[in-house]
Amino acid sequence: MLRLDGVTKKFGGLVAVNNVDLRIEKGEILGLVGPNGAGKTTLLNIISGIYRPDAGSVRYEGEDISRCSLDTLCKKGIAKTFQQTHSFPGLTARECVMIGALFGNGRKLRMDEARREALVHLEDVGFPSHKIDLPLSSLNVVELRRAQLARALATDPAVLLLDELMTGLNPSECTDAIALIKRLRDKNITIVMIEHVMRVIMGVSDRMVVLDSGEKIADGRPEEVVRDQRVIDSYLGERCTA
Ligand SMILES: Nc1ncnc2c1ncn2[C@@H]1O[C@H](COP(=O)(O)OP(=O)(O)OP(=O)(O)O)[C@@H](O)[C@H]1O
Ligand SMILES: [Mg+2]
Repeated sequence: MLRLDGVTKKFGGLVAVNNVDLRIEKGEILGLVGPNGAGKTTLLNIISGIYRPDAGSVRYEGEDISRCSLDTLCKKGIAKTFQQTHSFPGLTARECVMIGALFGNGRKLRMDEARREALVHLEDVGFPSHKIDLPLSSLNVVELRRAQLARALATDPAVLLLDELMTGLNPSECTDAIALIKRLRDKNITIVMIEHVMRVIMGVSDRMVVLDSGEKIADGRPEEVVRDQRVIDSYLGERCTA
């Protein structure tokens, strides 16, 4: 579904993503892990059109999308949530999700339809119902992450890119989030997710890719990847693999 060839992104002298090849199959959950600063967020930002690669290409269902704008890619079905939960503080959660429903795809909904859809998506991701019409500025970070996910789902995505969606969740909320992600995959949404909690990412991923200093150092089934000596040395350490 997605195919990256030789993707490289530099910030000044820093090579954040270095010559990465990656295939993402339709309907899979791909876990992206690696140490801080490894280039994970930058890679998702390239796929979603926030950054253009300095070299290499990104293909989506065969089409080169490396030069497409963010809104074009959203309409083609690629949606993303962000590691930093900044948004429009004056909008309510419902309005924020309505933006996804109204502008994120080519469906031309009426306002009342968008309002209804927003409610369904917010309920689906476990957003507290009594806060749906409160401004985003009054929400905590977990609620903001849920609102972001609902907004991404409202665009009716084929590919969902999740950047540390579960940060800040307690263990029982994590379990709910894992169930939700599996439900989304069962609805035929392809998912690429970055998470640092190994229990979570191993439990949910069909395949895992490890980045280190911008380079892909491992790609395989979770149980294979965590036994890879390069992954242990650069990311996991002996303690985590014991
Ligand atoms: N907009 C930017 N301008 C300059 N440098 C950047 C920019 N975005 C990322 N970087 C740098 O690129 C490298 C990769 O950053 P990135 O955010 O992709 O890492 P990450 O793997 O997501 O890390 P983390 O786990 O901490 O979120 C880092 O050295 C970071 O400082
Ligand atoms: Mg990041």
